[in-house]
Amino acid sequence: MPRRVYLETFGCQMNELDSELVTGQLHALGYRFTPRPDEADVVLYNTCSVREHAEQKVWSRLGELAIRKRSDPGLVVGVLGCMAERDGVDLIRRMPVVDVLVGPAELDKLPTLLDNALRTRESLIAEAPDHAPARSARQVALQGDASRRTVTLAAAEDSLEFLDLSRAVSPIDGSARHSAYVRITRGCNKFCTYCVVPFTRGAEIHRPPDHILEECRRLADAGVREITLLGQTVNHYRFEHGAAVSVRGVTQPQKGRAFKGGHARDPLAGVSVTTFADLLARIHERVPALSRLRFVTSYPRDFGDDALDAIRDHPRICRYLHVPAQSGSDRLLKLMNRGYSAPEYLDFIDRARARLDQPEIGRPLMISGDFIVGFPTETDDDFAATVALLRRARYKNAFIFKYSPRPGTVAFDKLADDVPESVKRRRNNELLALQSDISDEISRAQVGRTLDVFVEGPSKHETKRRARRAEAREPLPPHSPPAHPRAHAGLVGLTICGRADPTTDPDHCSHGAACSTVASHRSHPHADTPHTHGPVQLVGRTDGDLIVHFQAPAGAAPESWIGRTVPVQIEAADRLSLHGTAAAG
Ligand code: SAH
Ligand code: SF4
Ligand code: F3S
Repeated sequence: MPRRVYLETFGCQMNELDSELVTGQLHALGYRFTPRPDEADVVLYNTCSVREHAEQKVWSRLGELAIRKRSDPGLVVGVLGCMAERDGVDLIRRMPVVDVLVGPAELDKLPTLLDNALRTRESLIAEAPDHAPARSARQVALQGDASRRTVTLAAAEDSLEFLDLSRAVSPIDGSARHSAYVRITRGCNKFCTYCVVPFTRGAEIHRPPDHILEECRRLADAGVREITLLGQTVNHYRFEHGAAVSVRGVTQPQKGRAFKGGHARDPLAGVSVTTFADLLARIHERVPALSRLRFVTSYPRDFGDDALDAIRDHPRICRYLHVPAQSGSDRLLKLMNRGYSAPEYLDFIDRARARLDQPEIGRPLMISGDFIVGFPTETDDDFAATVALLRRARYKNAFIFKYSPRPGTVAFDKLADDVPESVKRRRNNELLALQSDISDEISRAQVGRTLDVFVEGPSKHETKRRARRAEAREPLPPHSPPAHPRAHAGLVGLTICGRADPTTDPDHCSHGAACSTVASHRSHPHADTPHTHGPVQLVGRTDGDLIVHFQAPAGAAPESWIGRTVPVQIEAADRLSLHGTAAAG
């Protein structure tokens, strides 16, 4: 009987990718996955430490598992990822329910540790059944103090590269996939004073371009059409070919070198160095099957004009930049060790817009950002500077976080968390409200444009609708009335209700004020029971990462649209998404 594994992922896209690699690796070894923790023999949490809140969720899950383990002492519990690395074996001391602890840089060791843990649990039960539930199998792999190793050591010991290289390109359930992440850089060398990532993920290491290219090709051969390149400071990518180290015949990643930054092109680019701009161009040229190439997260200071030019000159690279600012106050940016001032940040935004913002050809540049409010010593004036920057940058959306002091960081050691929670909350809400207005304006400016949309699948609403149908086992009528009043007028493409299910939440319609049906929402076609089955509601994204809901034209098989890029005429908009009609094709 194969062991059943439940794996839950917290945190960023890097963690999502790690979970995918772990899943592939364990599946190949005969483990099977279940979406139900209660029927699993192994429960794994791939964790995040970036804010305290993220860790609290895991602590409470572990508390529940400790209770379950009393009656199920064979259960193996593993904590993977950033929290494992940050807390180390203290985590097991505090929560002996944890048997396996694996940091993000040691994930390739998970199969061995899991195997040991399963055996150890059996012997613990055999030795002392009463005490077994409270005893950990203690299988630990952490990078610990080795996290800042020399270039050669970092490269030669980087067996993690084999984990990325041996990636299973198709999902384990055999489903078709059209989007994938590809890591280009691990770790981070920036040491922003509030941030745990350089400690949990270790030193910045760049993967060899040939490996990245090979992975992109394999994914494209398996049907992937959209790839998102990942790195904490993704645009900092720089691989020196002369410095490459080969281990067991495989070129190894190398530690990040000091980067000069600025706008100039690297003098060694294309000769003995592959820059970020070179990498983008190479993937674009050599993997023509990809219809979209995206990347996150960008660091504002390191964005050379060469990378902006590469985006402009290669049509399948998305016009979307996620460039966190964190604050608009120069004083705070300095305290955060961000390495740029607010004017320098805005100068970058202007440079990017001048090169990449082309709404006239249906390619407006979309930018998103991150902010931290309530950083130690933040005054009303500092916050006002952040508000001003947010207003000026005009993000399509922004992620706003309340400062969370993280043990081990410079800010935690040197700066008191002196902004009261109530002030953090107020500033957070104020910034969110302002951003919401800006997002709304940006969305509405798209109405009337035709934008290319990469189709991701049925919308949430559609998925729920299908699930309800399946539950009720209602047969699908061969043809049914159109889903929206405008469909009566022949405009079959307008989508309804992407945000909330109006049958349970009739006060929310994703059309927002732009939708003429909002006022009469209770008589909205989706608010009453007989749902339609003709045109199917799909969701996708523009190359600027704007969410678009639309309906596949009647008669088209909706599944065949997934993974395709289709032009959609935008007819309505709200802060969260656009709604339109797909051109038939
Ligand atoms: N590498 C990316 C971001 C990684 S963490 C970058 O540098 O931009 C994602 C976001 O979490 C950060 O952009 C920051 O806004 C937020 N964050 C990180 N540490 C935090 C902390 N201690 N408290 C609150 N927010 C934090
Ligand atoms: Fe953290 Fe700063 Fe590195 Fe981003 S750049 S991961 S915020 S240290
Ligand atoms: Fe969290 Fe680690 Fe990502 S701390 S944000 S999971 S790099």
